[in-house]
Amino acid sequence: MPFLSVKNLKAYYRTEMYGVSRMVRAIDDVSLTLESNEIYGVAGESSCGKTTLIKVLSGTIKPPLKIYEGSVNYQFKRGSVDMTKVSGEELRKNIRWKEISYVMQGSMSVLNPVRRVVKTFEDIISTHEGIKNRKEFLERIREHVKKLGLPPDVLGLYPHELSGGMRQRVAIALATVFHPGLIIADEPTTALDVVVQRGVLQLLKEIQGESKNTVLLVTHDMAVHANVADRVGIMYAGRLVEEAPSQLVFKSPQHPYTKHLISSLPVIGDKSGKSGLEGTPPNLANPPQGCRFHPRCPLAKESCKTEVPVMRDLGGGQRAACHRLEGVRQ
Ligand SMILES: Nc1ncnc2c1ncn2[C@@H]1O[C@H](COP(=O)(O)OP(=O)(O)OP(=O)(O)O)[C@@H](O)[C@H]1O
Ligand SMILES: [Mg+2]
Repeated sequence: MPFLSVKNLKAYYRTEMYGVSRMVRAIDDVSLTLESNEIYGVAGESSCGKTTLIKVLSGTIKPPLKIYEGSVNYQFKRGSVDMTKVSGEELRKNIRWKEISYVMQGSMSVLNPVRRVVKTFEDIISTHEGIKNRKEFLERIREHVKKLGLPPDVLGLYPHELSGGMRQRVAIALATVFHPGLIIADEPTTALDVVVQRGVLQLLKEIQGESKNTVLLVTHDMAVHANVADRVGIMYAGRLVEEAPSQLVFKSPQHPYTKHLISSLPVIGDKSGKSGLEGTPPNLANPPQGCRFHPRCPLAKESCKTEVPVMRDLGGGQRAACHRLEGVRQ
Protein backbone atom coordinates (compact mmCIF):
# COMPACT_ATOMS: atom_id res chain seq x y z
CA MET A 1 0.00 0.00 0.00
CA PRO A 2 1.33 3.48 -0.80
CA PHE A 3 2.12 5.83 2.07
CA LEU A 4 -0.49 8.28 0.77
CA SER A 5 -3.31 7.68 -1.64
CA VAL A 6 -5.37 10.64 -2.88
CA LYS A 7 -8.49 9.71 -4.85
CA ASN A 8 -10.69 12.02 -6.92
CA LEU A 9 -10.12 14.94 -4.61
CA LYS A 10 -12.24 18.05 -5.08
CA ALA A 11 -11.62 21.03 -2.81
CA TYR A 12 -13.16 24.41 -3.56
CA TYR A 13 -13.19 27.87 -2.03
CA ARG A 14 -16.69 29.25 -1.67
CA THR A 15 -16.58 33.02 -1.70
CA GLU A 16 -19.22 35.70 -1.44
CA MET A 17 -18.80 39.08 -3.10
CA TYR A 18 -21.54 41.71 -3.34
CA GLY A 19 -24.06 38.98 -2.51
CA VAL A 20 -22.87 36.77 -5.38
CA SER A 21 -21.49 33.42 -4.35
CA ARG A 22 -18.63 31.91 -6.37
CA MET A 23 -16.97 28.53 -6.22
CA VAL A 24 -13.22 28.58 -6.94
CA ARG A 25 -12.40 25.06 -8.15
CA ALA A 26 -8.83 25.03 -6.88
CA ILE A 27 -8.49 21.23 -6.70
CA ASP A 28 -10.75 19.52 -9.17
CA ASP A 29 -10.51 15.76 -9.35
CA VAL A 30 -6.91 15.07 -8.41
CA SER A 31 -5.70 11.50 -7.81
CA LEU A 32 -2.14 10.59 -6.89
CA THR A 33 -0.08 8.37 -4.62
CA LEU A 34 3.09 9.05 -2.64
CA GLU A 35 5.45 6.30 -1.55
CA SER A 36 7.65 6.15 1.55
CA ASN A 37 11.20 7.13 0.80
CA GLU A 38 10.66 9.50 -2.11
CA ILE A 39 10.76 13.18 -2.91
CA TYR A 40 7.65 14.04 -4.90
CA GLY A 41 7.66 17.43 -6.59
CA VAL A 42 4.50 19.37 -7.44
CA ALA A 43 4.97 21.91 -10.21
CA GLY A 44 2.78 24.39 -12.04
CA GLU A 45 2.48 28.14 -12.43
CA SER A 46 0.97 30.52 -9.90
CA SER A 47 -2.65 29.89 -8.88
CA CYS A 48 -2.84 26.35 -10.26
CA GLY A 49 -3.74 24.97 -6.81
CA LYS A 50 -0.42 23.80 -5.35
CA THR A 51 -0.84 25.38 -1.92
CA THR A 52 -4.50 24.34 -1.81
CA LEU A 53 -3.49 20.73 -2.42
CA ILE A 54 -1.04 20.96 0.47
CA LYS A 55 -3.67 22.45 2.75
CA VAL A 56 -5.85 19.41 2.14
CA LEU A 57 -3.02 16.89 2.48
CA SER A 58 -1.81 18.46 5.71
CA GLY A 59 -5.29 18.90 7.19
CA THR A 60 -5.02 22.70 7.41
CA ILE A 61 -8.39 23.35 5.83
CA LYS A 62 -10.51 26.21 6.99
CA PRO A 63 -13.38 28.12 5.39
CA PRO A 64 -13.83 29.24 2.69
CA LEU A 65 -11.93 26.08 1.62
CA LYS A 66 -13.96 22.89 1.80
CA ILE A 67 -13.56 19.34 0.57
CA TYR A 68 -16.43 18.34 -1.70
CA GLU A 69 -15.38 14.87 -2.82
CA GLY A 70 -12.63 12.29 -2.60
CA SER A 71 -10.38 10.69 -0.02
CA VAL A 72 -6.87 11.32 1.33
CA ASN A 73 -5.62 8.09 2.90
CA TYR A 74 -2.39 7.87 4.89
CA GLN A 75 -0.71 4.70 6.10
CA PHE A 76 0.88 5.98 9.30
CA LYS A 77 2.88 3.70 11.57
CA ARG A 78 -0.02 3.66 13.99
CA GLY A 79 -2.63 2.81 11.33
CA SER A 80 -4.45 4.29 8.38
CA VAL A 81 -6.11 7.69 8.52
CA ASP A 82 -8.41 9.45 6.05
CA MET A 83 -7.48 13.10 6.29
CA THR A 84 -10.88 14.21 5.01
CA LYS A 85 -12.55 12.66 8.06
CA VAL A 86 -10.08 13.21 10.87
CA SER A 87 -11.05 15.39 13.86
CA GLY A 88 -9.32 18.65 14.69
CA GLU A 89 -8.18 17.25 18.03
CA GLU A 90 -6.66 14.11 16.51
CA LEU A 91 -4.85 16.32 14.04
CA ARG A 92 -3.39 18.64 16.66
CA LYS A 93 -2.49 15.92 19.13
CA ASN A 94 -1.23 13.05 17.02
CA ILE A 95 -0.71 14.04 13.42
CA ARG A 96 0.62 17.54 12.96
CA TRP A 97 4.41 17.73 13.49
CA LYS A 98 4.56 14.07 14.53
CA GLU A 99 3.33 12.36 11.35
CA ILE A 100 3.16 15.30 8.94
CA SER A 101 5.04 18.56 9.12
CA TYR A 102 4.55 21.50 6.86
CA VAL A 103 7.14 24.14 5.96
CA MET A 104 4.79 26.88 4.80
CA GLN A 105 5.22 29.31 1.94
CA GLY A 106 7.12 32.15 3.69
CA SER A 107 8.92 30.63 6.68
CA MET A 108 8.10 33.52 8.98
CA SER A 109 4.63 32.09 9.48
CA VAL A 110 5.88 29.27 11.72
CA LEU A 111 8.24 31.49 13.73
CA ASN A 112 6.82 33.91 16.23
CA PRO A 113 8.43 37.30 15.40
CA VAL A 114 8.54 38.43 19.02
CA ARG A 115 9.99 35.25 20.52
CA ARG A 116 13.46 33.75 20.31
CA VAL A 117 13.78 30.70 18.04
CA VAL A 118 14.21 28.35 21.00
CA LYS A 119 10.75 29.35 22.26
CA THR A 120 9.13 28.12 19.07
CA PHE A 121 10.84 24.74 19.54
CA GLU A 122 9.65 24.78 23.12
CA ASP A 123 6.05 25.53 22.10
CA ILE A 124 5.94 22.70 19.59
CA ILE A 125 7.64 20.11 21.76
CA SER A 126 5.74 20.99 24.91
CA THR A 127 2.33 20.63 23.22
CA HIS A 128 3.22 17.10 22.09
CA GLU A 129 5.45 15.67 24.75
CA GLY A 130 5.73 18.10 27.58
CA ILE A 131 9.14 19.27 28.77
CA LYS A 132 10.16 17.61 32.04
CA ASN A 133 13.79 18.52 32.18
CA ARG A 134 14.68 21.86 30.65
CA LYS A 135 18.42 21.16 30.52
CA GLU A 136 17.84 17.92 28.62
CA PHE A 137 15.38 19.66 26.33
CA LEU A 138 17.91 22.38 25.45
CA GLU A 139 20.59 19.77 24.85
CA ARG A 140 18.27 17.83 22.52
CA ILE A 141 17.41 20.94 20.50
CA ARG A 142 21.06 22.01 20.28
CA GLU A 143 22.02 18.56 19.02
CA HIS A 144 19.18 18.60 16.51
CA VAL A 145 20.06 21.97 14.97
CA LYS A 146 23.77 21.09 14.99
CA LYS A 147 23.03 17.90 13.09
CA LEU A 148 21.31 19.98 10.44
CA GLY A 149 24.42 22.13 10.09
CA LEU A 150 23.04 25.13 11.97
CA PRO A 151 25.06 26.96 14.63
CA PRO A 152 23.26 26.37 17.97
CA ASP A 153 23.50 30.12 18.57
CA VAL A 154 20.51 30.59 16.26
CA LEU A 155 18.33 29.31 19.08
CA GLY A 156 18.91 32.49 21.05
CA LEU A 157 18.06 34.80 18.17
CA TYR A 158 14.83 36.43 17.05
CA PRO A 159 13.50 35.49 13.59
CA HIS A 160 14.30 38.94 12.15
CA GLU A 161 17.94 38.46 13.12
CA LEU A 162 18.26 35.47 10.78
CA SER A 163 19.00 35.63 7.07
CA GLY A 164 16.38 34.24 4.70
CA GLY A 165 18.33 31.02 4.17
CA MET A 166 18.92 30.55 7.88
CA ARG A 167 15.25 31.12 8.61
CA GLN A 168 14.31 28.48 6.11
CA ARG A 169 16.79 26.04 7.69
CA VAL A 170 15.29 26.75 11.09
CA ALA A 171 11.82 26.06 9.66
CA ILE A 172 13.14 22.74 8.34
CA ALA A 173 14.74 21.97 11.71
CA LEU A 174 11.36 22.55 13.37
CA ALA A 175 9.66 20.35 10.81
CA THR A 176 12.00 17.46 11.56
CA VAL A 177 12.04 17.49 15.38
CA PHE A 178 9.71 14.48 15.59
CA HIS A 179 11.00 12.71 12.46
CA PRO A 180 7.61 12.72 10.72
CA GLY A 181 6.79 10.30 7.89
CA LEU A 182 5.92 13.22 5.62
CA ILE A 183 7.53 16.62 5.29
CA ILE A 184 5.67 19.07 3.09
CA ALA A 185 7.62 22.09 1.87
CA ASP A 186 5.80 24.85 -0.01
CA GLU A 187 8.13 27.00 -2.15
CA PRO A 188 10.91 26.59 0.45
CA THR A 189 13.53 28.36 -1.63
CA THR A 190 11.59 30.80 -3.78
CA ALA A 191 12.71 33.93 -1.92
CA LEU A 192 16.37 32.87 -1.74
CA ASP A 193 19.29 33.50 -4.07
CA VAL A 194 20.61 30.47 -5.94
CA VAL A 195 23.60 29.72 -3.72
CA VAL A 196 21.54 29.78 -0.52
CA GLN A 197 18.80 27.90 -2.34
CA ARG A 198 21.20 25.07 -3.12
CA GLY A 199 22.15 24.74 0.55
CA VAL A 200 18.53 24.56 1.71
CA LEU A 201 17.63 21.97 -0.93
CA GLN A 202 20.70 19.94 -0.08
CA LEU A 203 19.59 19.94 3.55
CA LEU A 204 16.12 18.66 2.61
CA LYS A 205 17.68 15.97 0.44
CA GLU A 206 20.06 14.86 3.17
CA ILE A 207 17.29 14.65 5.76
CA GLN A 208 15.19 12.58 3.38
CA GLY A 209 18.10 10.33 2.49
CA GLU A 210 18.80 9.65 6.13
CA SER A 211 15.29 9.15 7.47
CA LYS A 212 13.87 7.57 4.27
CA ASN A 213 10.60 9.41 4.76
CA THR A 214 8.44 11.14 2.15
CA VAL A 215 9.02 14.73 1.10
CA LEU A 216 6.40 16.63 -0.85
CA LEU A 217 8.17 19.56 -2.45
CA VAL A 218 6.01 22.24 -4.01
CA THR A 219 7.52 24.84 -6.27
CA HIS A 220 6.84 26.48 -9.61
CA ASP A 221 10.62 26.34 -10.24
CA MET A 222 11.25 23.43 -12.61
CA ALA A 223 15.02 23.70 -12.13
CA VAL A 224 14.53 22.83 -8.46
CA HIS A 225 12.50 19.76 -9.38
CA ALA A 226 15.16 18.68 -11.85
CA ASN A 227 17.74 18.75 -9.04
CA VAL A 228 15.79 17.35 -6.16
CA ALA A 229 12.60 15.41 -7.00
CA ASP A 230 12.40 11.66 -7.64
CA ARG A 231 8.98 12.07 -9.26
CA VAL A 232 7.17 15.16 -10.44
CA GLY A 233 3.46 15.94 -10.78
CA ILE A 234 2.51 18.86 -13.02
CA MET A 235 -0.63 20.80 -12.15
CA TYR A 236 -2.60 23.08 -14.39
CA ALA A 237 -5.71 24.98 -13.29
CA GLY A 238 -6.62 22.70 -10.39
CA ARG A 239 -5.85 19.41 -12.12
CA LEU A 240 -2.92 17.08 -12.38
CA VAL A 241 -2.01 16.94 -16.08
CA GLU A 242 1.14 14.81 -16.03
CA GLU A 243 3.18 12.74 -13.62
CA ALA A 244 6.43 10.81 -14.06
CA PRO A 245 9.83 10.00 -12.59
CA SER A 246 11.67 13.30 -12.83
CA GLN A 247 14.23 12.11 -15.38
CA LEU A 248 11.40 11.12 -17.71
CA VAL A 249 9.57 14.41 -17.22
CA PHE A 250 12.62 16.33 -18.34
CA LYS A 251 13.73 13.93 -21.07
CA SER A 252 10.39 13.12 -22.56
CA PRO A 253 7.54 15.39 -21.43
CA GLN A 254 4.22 14.37 -22.96
CA HIS A 255 1.62 16.98 -22.06
CA PRO A 256 1.88 20.20 -24.11
CA TYR A 257 1.84 22.22 -20.87
CA THR A 258 4.73 20.22 -19.41
CA LYS A 259 6.61 20.68 -22.70
CA HIS A 260 6.11 24.41 -22.38
CA LEU A 261 7.34 24.49 -18.75
CA ILE A 262 10.47 22.57 -19.67
CA SER A 263 11.25 24.45 -22.85
CA SER A 264 11.11 27.72 -20.91
CA LEU A 265 13.96 26.61 -18.62
CA PRO A 266 17.09 28.63 -19.32
CA VAL A 267 19.91 26.82 -21.12
CA ILE A 268 23.47 28.17 -20.82
CA GLY A 269 24.65 29.60 -24.13
CA ASP A 270 21.20 29.60 -25.74
CA LYS A 271 20.58 33.06 -27.22
CA SER A 272 17.56 32.16 -29.33
CA GLY A 273 15.07 33.58 -26.84
CA LYS A 274 12.23 31.59 -25.35
CA SER A 275 8.82 31.55 -26.94
CA GLY A 276 6.17 32.26 -24.30
CA LEU A 277 2.81 30.66 -23.97
CA GLU A 278 -0.05 32.90 -25.04
CA GLY A 279 -2.81 33.79 -22.64
CA THR A 280 -3.05 33.37 -18.89
CA PRO A 281 -4.22 30.51 -16.67
CA PRO A 282 -8.01 30.44 -16.40
CA ASN A 283 -10.11 31.89 -13.64
CA LEU A 284 -10.90 28.87 -11.47
CA ALA A 285 -14.31 30.30 -10.59
CA ASN A 286 -15.24 29.79 -14.23
CA PRO A 287 -12.78 27.36 -15.80
CA PRO A 288 -13.01 26.35 -19.48
CA GLN A 289 -14.96 23.23 -20.41
CA GLY A 290 -13.13 20.13 -21.61
CA CYS A 291 -9.37 20.30 -21.18
CA ARG A 292 -8.62 23.38 -19.08
CA PHE A 293 -5.47 23.99 -21.07
CA HIS A 294 -7.19 24.07 -24.46
CA PRO A 295 -7.47 27.87 -24.86
CA ARG A 296 -3.65 28.11 -24.67
CA CYS A 297 -2.73 24.82 -26.26
CA PRO A 298 -1.02 24.89 -29.67
CA LEU A 299 -2.35 21.38 -30.41
CA ALA A 300 -5.99 21.85 -29.35
CA LYS A 301 -8.70 20.26 -31.51
CA GLU A 302 -12.48 20.26 -31.23
CA SER A 303 -12.77 17.44 -28.68
CA CYS A 304 -10.36 19.26 -26.34
CA LYS A 305 -12.99 21.99 -25.93
CA THR A 306 -15.70 19.63 -24.72
CA GLU A 307 -14.22 16.42 -23.31
CA VAL A 308 -12.17 16.29 -20.13
CA PRO A 309 -9.07 14.20 -20.94
CA VAL A 310 -8.51 11.27 -18.59
CA MET A 311 -5.10 10.29 -17.22
CA ARG A 312 -3.49 7.69 -19.47
CA ASP A 313 -0.75 5.38 -18.36
CA LEU A 314 2.22 5.80 -20.70
CA GLY A 315 4.53 3.21 -19.16
CA GLY A 316 7.65 3.72 -17.06
CA GLY A 317 5.61 5.38 -14.32
CA GLN A 318 4.57 8.23 -16.61
CA ARG A 319 0.96 9.29 -17.08
CA ALA A 320 -0.66 12.28 -18.70
CA ALA A 321 -4.13 13.68 -19.38
CA CYS A 322 -4.28 14.94 -22.96
CA HIS A 323 -6.29 14.10 -26.10
CA ARG A 324 -3.24 14.70 -28.28
CA LEU A 325 -0.71 12.29 -26.80
CA GLU A 326 1.51 10.90 -29.52
CA GLY A 327 1.43 7.14 -29.19
CA VAL A 328 1.61 5.22 -25.98
CA ARG A 329 5.13 4.15 -25.10
CA GLN A 330 5.53 0.48 -24.25
N1 LIG B 1 -8.71 32.01 0.70
C1 LIG B 1 -9.05 31.93 -0.60
N2 LIG B 1 -10.27 32.31 -1.01
C2 LIG B 1 -10.64 32.21 -2.31
N3 LIG B 1 -9.85 31.75 -3.29
C3 LIG B 1 -8.61 31.36 -2.94
C4 LIG B 1 -8.13 31.42 -1.59
N4 LIG B 1 -6.85 30.98 -1.55
C5 LIG B 1 -6.54 30.64 -2.83
N5 LIG B 1 -7.59 30.87 -3.66
C6 LIG B 1 -7.64 30.62 -5.11
O1 LIG B 1 -7.41 29.23 -5.35
C7 LIG B 1 -6.63 29.05 -6.52
C8 LIG B 1 -5.40 28.22 -6.20
O2 LIG B 1 -4.57 28.96 -5.32
P1 LIG B 1 -3.24 28.36 -4.67
O3 LIG B 1 -2.79 29.30 -3.63
O4 LIG B 1 -3.51 26.96 -4.28
O5 LIG B 1 -2.25 28.38 -5.92
P2 LIG B 1 -0.67 28.09 -6.00
O6 LIG B 1 -0.48 27.13 -7.11
O7 LIG B 1 -0.16 27.72 -4.66
O8 LIG B 1 -0.10 29.50 -6.45
P3 LIG B 1 1.33 30.21 -6.09
O9 LIG B 1 2.34 29.57 -7.00
O10 LIG B 1 1.08 31.65 -6.43
O11 LIG B 1 1.61 29.98 -4.63
C9 LIG B 1 -6.32 30.44 -7.06
O12 LIG B 1 -7.26 30.75 -8.06
C10 LIG B 1 -6.53 31.33 -5.85
O13 LIG B 1 -6.93 32.62 -6.23
MG1 LIG C 1 1.27 28.57 -3.38
